[in-house]
Parts: sequence; structure tokens; C-alpha cells
Amino acid sequence: MTQTPAPADLYNHALADAYDALKMAADYEIWADLLEGVLQEQGCTGRRFLDVGCGTGTSSLAMQRRGFEVTACDISEEMLEIARGKDRAGNVRFLQADMRALPDSLAGFHLIHWLDDVANHLLGPADLGAAVRSSAGALVPGGVLVFDVNPLATFTAHYSLRRRSVVERDDTVIISTGLTARPSADSPAEARLTAFRHQGDGLWTRRSATVLEHHFEDRTVRNAIADAGLDLVGSYGFGDMTAPGKLVRPADEQRHPKIVYVARRPVSADRAGH
Ligand SMILES: C[S@@+](CC[C@H](N)C(=O)[O-])C[C@H]1O[C@@H](n2cnc3c(N)ncnc32)[C@H](O)[C@@H]1O
Repeated sequence: MTQTPAPADLYNHALADAYDALKMAADYEIWADLLEGVLQEQGCTGRRFLDVGCGTGTSSLAMQRRGFEVTACDISEEMLEIARGKDRAGNVRFLQADMRALPDSLAGFHLIHWLDDVANHLLGPADLGAAVRSSAGALVPGGVLVFDVNPLATFTAHYSLRRRSVVERDDTVIISTGLTARPSADSPAEARLTAFRHQGDGLWTRRSATVLEHHFEDRTVRNAIADAGLDLVGSYGFGDMTAPGKLVRPADEQRHPKIVYVARRPVSADRAGH
């Protein structure tokens, strides 16, 4: 199995304690609404939810507050550490796991999601295939897998050479600088991420790491879903200002900030994956 170098470097050493500054809490509620809508549409009433690549646990806790029984995993111990710190009551089970080979103990879920370009951290079709198979195996028959990928427009916006973006919030400033001459379909692309954090008394820390993401073409994702024995419910554009919080069809690589895939384990099929 190919190794994923990005999380160890990026999330463990540079970004974990600055990650939440990049995110808006309200966006996780919008996503949770969307997941509940998908489950309703699919007639899936079970409440066992697995948050794969849970990061600092914001989506795990949003779903727990909505009455889901939540298990959450990530490859980065540092991200999990922060997630556990937010869950003082211990309502969510957080564990370290690689999404390409989830432990057999993770089984029987009605809903699994990989939120916010977790999929693009997988560095090629073989890793993507392994991850979809592994999640498929953790679903109950009729269970639903939902994940988003960054389309080419997002790669171009963030990873093109010298393309720079800055996020500034409270005591954190994060600068992203693209490193890839021309991001292209079904290929990896890189950016340099530098996080400055104010520690008090005018003292700032500075940490940098490389973000490495892989763009997946629609047909690569569809193949991974079919090979894992899942039925594709649909692919949708998401994050468009003209339809906030909505899944829209058709997905457009050039227009939508995210593309969302919804897949379902057939009710009659044998257990896919492990
Ligand atoms: C962009 S963050 C998203 C975090 C979270 N889902 C959210 O929406 O805030 C990507 C996460 O994927 C995790 N990740 C990357 N590769 C992984 C793998 N092979 N298995 C499990 N988690 C992985 C990283 O450690 C990181 O926490």
C-alpha cells in the first residue's frame, strides 16, 4: 500500500492546533443538515455514524448533538487529541485509523462520511479504491457513504504556482502558497502552508508544511464506488453561492468548489470490502 505522507507532516506538526481557525462552525451545521436530508431521501433511519478523517472532531460533535451514535477516526493523533479535548463528556468514540484499512471492529454503520477533501489526501486511484472498499465494508446493507472531492477549479485556485491565500482569525494567520505549475486532472498538486500563532506578549510561532492533494476525475471516483460494490446514488456540485447548502446537479468541475458523491450499499449484496 502506498503511504500517505501528507497527514503526518501537515496535520501532526504544522496545522493541528491552527486547523479550526481555517473553518467556520456554521459550515458543519450546514453539512449536518445535508447529511440528514440524504439519509431521509434514502429512507435510512439508523443512527450509527462513522466520521472518517474526522480531524478536530467538529462534524463528529455536530452529528452527536443531533442524536447520532458517533464513532470518529483519523490518521493524525494530533488532530484526534484536539477532537477529544472538545468532547469532555466522552460522547464520541475517537480512534486512530487509516481509512484505507479500517479495523474490522468498525462495522455496522448506517452513515459514513469523509468531509472536506479527506478523499484528496489519498494519493492515487489505488488508495482511493482501498478507502472506498474499506468504508463500504463498514456499512450495513442499505447504509450510505457520502464524501466530497475538490474539483479542478479548486485545485487551480489553491495549488497553482505562487497562488496565495491568507486566512486571518483571532490569534492565527494561515498563508497558503501554490507550488504546482499547472494543476491537472487525476494528478497530485502541492501548496506550502504556513501557520503563525500568537502566543501572547507579542510572541508568534511559525510553522510550515506541504499540503499534498490528488485530484480525482469523476470516472476514477465512479470506478472506485462500483468496484467496492456500492451503488452510486449521485454526484452533485456543492458550495456554489447561488445554492448555499444545497446539492445541485449536474456537478461542474469548473464551477463548483466541491463535488459530493453519495453511494449506497445494496440491501441484498454480500458485505463488500473487509
Ligand atoms: C482537510 S482535513 C478534514 C478534517 C475534518 N473532516 C473536517 O471536515 O474538519 C483532512 C483530514 O483527513 C485526515 N486523513 C488524511 N489521510 C487519512 C487517512 N489515510 N486515513 C484517515 N484520515 C486521514 C487528516 O489527518 C485530516 O485530519
